[in-house]
Amino acid sequence: MPLFAAHDPSHFPHVDAFLAYWERVRARVARLQGSTPLLARVPVGQTPLMELPSVGGVELWAKLENRNPSGSLKDRIVLYLLADGIERGLIEPSTVLIEGTSGNTGIALAMLGAALGYPVKIFMPDNVSAERRALMEAFGAGVALTPGELGTDGAIEAARQAHDPPRSCWLAQHENPANVLAHYDTTGAEILEQCPDVAAFVAPTGTTGTLMGVSLRLKERDPEVEIVAVWPEEWIMGLRCPVGDKKPKIYDERLIDRVIEIADPDAKAAARELARRFGLLVGPSSGAAWLAAQRLAREYAARGRGGRIVVCFPDEGARYLSTDTFLHESARTQNDTRREPRS
Ligand SMILES: Cc1ncc(COP(=O)(O)O)c(C=O)c1O
Repeated sequence: MPLFAAHDPSHFPHVDAFLAYWERVRARVARLQGSTPLLARVPVGQTPLMELPSVGGVELWAKLENRNPSGSLKDRIVLYLLADGIERGLIEPSTVLIEGTSGNTGIALAMLGAALGYPVKIFMPDNVSAERRALMEAFGAGVALTPGELGTDGAIEAARQAHDPPRSCWLAQHENPANVLAHYDTTGAEILEQCPDVAAFVAPTGTTGTLMGVSLRLKERDPEVEIVAVWPEEWIMGLRCPVGDKKPKIYDERLIDRVIEIADPDAKAAARELARRFGLLVGPSSGAAWLAAQRLAREYAARGRGGRIVVCFPDEGARYLSTDTFLHESARTQNDTRREPRS
């Protein structure tokens, strides 16, 4: 994993020590899963690939990340972030786990915190869907809302400020390479097993952890695999463009081959279509990813190129029921007021 080794030289100046450290984190993840009654029976990851209609002979396969125990791909990284914190001695049994998030990581952390016995405090913008907060509180987590106009960055900054070691541990998913390792070890490995001849992987970006980890894994097997990032044209709930001062520390643009931008109304319409045509209730970022994958498939078909595209569907649709995502056309508002600046 040469690119991986470049990520955190300040903590692990020697590559061998760095790689040995990650082996300990992996072993810790396995122990956490095996010793937690829920996770021993309902594993994180191992999500199914579902075939969607092909486009011009190009096959589309959706990785259903809503099938994780808390309903999103973030279960994968939270397990790794916790294992990393425990290994580094930052998490003791009564440590409060803190994170700034637009939602899915908070729900995963609240759920896993409950399953593993840790108190959890989440900072979240006040303009994300109400279900997210309700879910976190259902798992017993404390939730503090930050101004919606500051976006996810406002929530991250609030978490940074609230962080008070050793009483609390801030998971810092945007900067912690354990986020990337989780997708390298699990999402990427599963895709290669389920679809060994994958030609392209398409996924929306938040922290970019999914794309970074999967790209490393897939390109290790075949450097020609195309890695496609899906960015919001303006705003899509849960997503951010990793540009300028919003660039997460874990983001390495060399691991991305291209970007496709999708508009929020189109993403929501695609999510409705997935629900009504296939009975698959997933969030708007999945709709955006599906649209981007179809666009890519049309291009491949036009160039006479076949192949299989795997597309990441990050989360569960039920956590968007209070938004206008699934409203019948006649009940839809002209403008969704829950907006944050492009981030
Ligand atoms: C709904 C949704 N889709 C996609 C993602 C992207 O995941 P990643 O953080 O790995 O880029 C996120 C991240 O928060 C998300 O909330």
